[in-house]
Amino acid sequence: MTPPRLPNIIGLMTKPEAKKRVAFLIAELERHNHLYHSLDQPEITDFEFDKLFQELLSLEEEFPELKSVNSPTQKVGGSVIEAFEKMSHKEPMLSLQNTYSTDEIIEFEKKIHRQLSTENRLEFFCSPKFDGVAIELVYELGRLTHAITRGDGSVGEDVISNVKTIRSVPLELKGKNIPDRIDIRGEILIFKNDFAALNELYQERGLLTFANPRNAAAGTLRQLDSRIAAERNLKLFCYSLGFCSEDLFQSQSDFEAQLSQWGLPIMPSTALNQLNPQKLSALCKGSDEVIAYYRQLETLRSDLDFDIDGIVVKVNSYKTQKSLGNIARSPRWAFAAKFKPQQAKTVVEEIVVQVGRTGALTPVAIMNPVEVGGVTITNATLHNQDEIDRKDVRVGDTVLIHRAGDVIPEIIEVLINKRPKHSKPFKIPNLCPTCHSTAEQLEGEVVKRCTNSFCPSVMVETLKHFVSRNAMNIDKLGSKQIEIFYQAGLIKTFSDIYRLSYDKIISLDRQGEKSTQNLLESIETSKDTDLHRLIYALGIRHVGEQTARTLARSYKTIESFLETSEEELLNLPDIGPKVAQSILKALKQKAFIKEVLQLIDLGVRPKKIKDSPHKSKALFAGMGFVVTGTLPIPRNQVQDLIRDAGGQILSSVSKNTSVLIAGENAGSKLEKAEKLSVPIWTWDDLNAKLNK
Ligand code: IVH
Repeated sequence: MTPPRLPNIIGLMTKPEAKKRVAFLIAELERHNHLYHSLDQPEITDFEFDKLFQELLSLEEEFPELKSVNSPTQKVGGSVIEAFEKMSHKEPMLSLQNTYSTDEIIEFEKKIHRQLSTENRLEFFCSPKFDGVAIELVYELGRLTHAITRGDGSVGEDVISNVKTIRSVPLELKGKNIPDRIDIRGEILIFKNDFAALNELYQERGLLTFANPRNAAAGTLRQLDSRIAAERNLKLFCYSLGFCSEDLFQSQSDFEAQLSQWGLPIMPSTALNQLNPQKLSALCKGSDEVIAYYRQLETLRSDLDFDIDGIVVKVNSYKTQKSLGNIARSPRWAFAAKFKPQQAKTVVEEIVVQVGRTGALTPVAIMNPVEVGGVTITNATLHNQDEIDRKDVRVGDTVLIHRAGDVIPEIIEVLINKRPKHSKPFKIPNLCPTCHSTAEQLEGEVVKRCTNSFCPSVMVETLKHFVSRNAMNIDKLGSKQIEIFYQAGLIKTFSDIYRLSYDKIISLDRQGEKSTQNLLESIETSKDTDLHRLIYALGIRHVGEQTARTLARSYKTIESFLETSEEELLNLPDIGPKVAQSILKALKQKAFIKEVLQLIDLGVRPKKIKDSPHKSKALFAGMGFVVTGTLPIPRNQVQDLIRDAGGQILSSVSKNTSVLIAGENAGSKLEKAEKLSVPIWTWDDLNAKLNK
């Protein structure tokens, strides 16, 4: 659709022109709403969306007869997906009016003064504007009964199974003053470091990665299998009140203090001059203090663990809030002041292809260095061919970049009108750039991989993984050193690390006495390790930390792990055919087994995983449990909790089963347990017993 007339001529438009522009804006805003809320694939920034939205608002104000009930200005964006149960919000979930400059903050206060016919300095409760996904928690008689997404503002989806996986969300409110029903709103987030780890894992598995933490959080909440949510470490901060059956609070600060006493996660508040990454909310008097708060938060922004895109300012007194009331889709007593987007323009000088540990070929754009949010950026991953094609990034292109989740540099778009003539689309080669072996793309994967398992890049990256922090943790052997030692022929395999001697190391250029000693010590210390770390360090495809723990728990020693069979593996919790095949493939390689045995010969001593002893091992002694259905935490962790309390895990229901733990969508096992009158516990029942 070509945009009719430009926005800067509002006020000069004739009615037919305005009508055309309004129709265009409505269609455009709806399209972007869908891309943002339902598909998690925004094409424009919030800033650009808000500009379109403001333009529509202004036109509707100038030509009220053009205002339609279908206009996005009359409802809150988003739609409901079929898979979860739909549920109404008892009070609609409103949006906030946005401001983009400090002048507009002053203007906002003036407007409130006019409405209240007062000039008194008002108290504002200021908090960060979290860039995540809004949620409403419903507590009935103190118990969490629903967690409803915003949806279209009136009806959302009940995603409680996923929300229950968030550690900081209490299933039961503690303390006094608990009303019959209270609906509490907040924002669900994925922290920047969890987001980076998640994308790294997905990249490694050849899956599509998320553009930013907000999309990752939204995508996670929509997962029907809550185990996925449990693994992704969602976080939540509460910030506003929906329905409440009783009149309990005088003000926002009052409300937040009570939330904290009930055990709900909030962003703690502090004095304006003491804001820090842990305490980011503050009470401010008048717009000058609000502006000081806005500026302080903007400087703290890049130090935070999570994304924020502005501040939210609320009139603190609930009585004043009530007298101000709402307009169509947002309250008059609150507004958001957004930060300017942290973006920059630069030129792509080169696209290089890197080879990772799994042989994956990753294209990386090397750009003219440019500063974004105080950090100089030169590289941005382009992930895979699909991503390159989608954005059509070419060498020589001028691009707009930002830091996804304020950390990872990302190309947002190519400025096509600046593209040099004769540029060519970039294609990832069919040969590995390191060893020139064939690179192939397997069905169902989005990445190409080098097919040579002895490719020098694959070897070096595998060694880097082996020594990394969560693996063998040889911290004095950094990435650069691995490369040098590999080049020099000192380390070719894992076991070579344990064969390094003082003389060999010192013979290398620029290797001092002290650092050589430190390195040898760090290698020696790493020998005392945990079995799960060793298994993870071996770098078997699809064996991440979680799977390594499962294997270590079941096999107890490295020798018995090496002798496993397909049948045994498939009987383990959370190990599917793909992972099992990958393990068996590694264990079939004589060279692999030899390597592991040499590690043991050279003194690597893996301890079995520490049991986290339950208060009473006798709690479930002599009892057999079957666990089925979808539970808020991964099934193997539920089974561990039971084992820790002395219970035994059984694979099928019989009359000898003591208890069936049934999660959501439990199927035939539940039916059988009912038939045999086996006691059935929910997740909450199990917790109640364990926490007694
Ligand atoms: S208060 C009446 N406080 O911003 C609205 N909202 O555009 C009450 N948000 O849907 C909301 N951080 O998802 C509030 N500290 C905060 C917030 C916040 C982020 C989001 C929320 C809401 C949207 C409004």
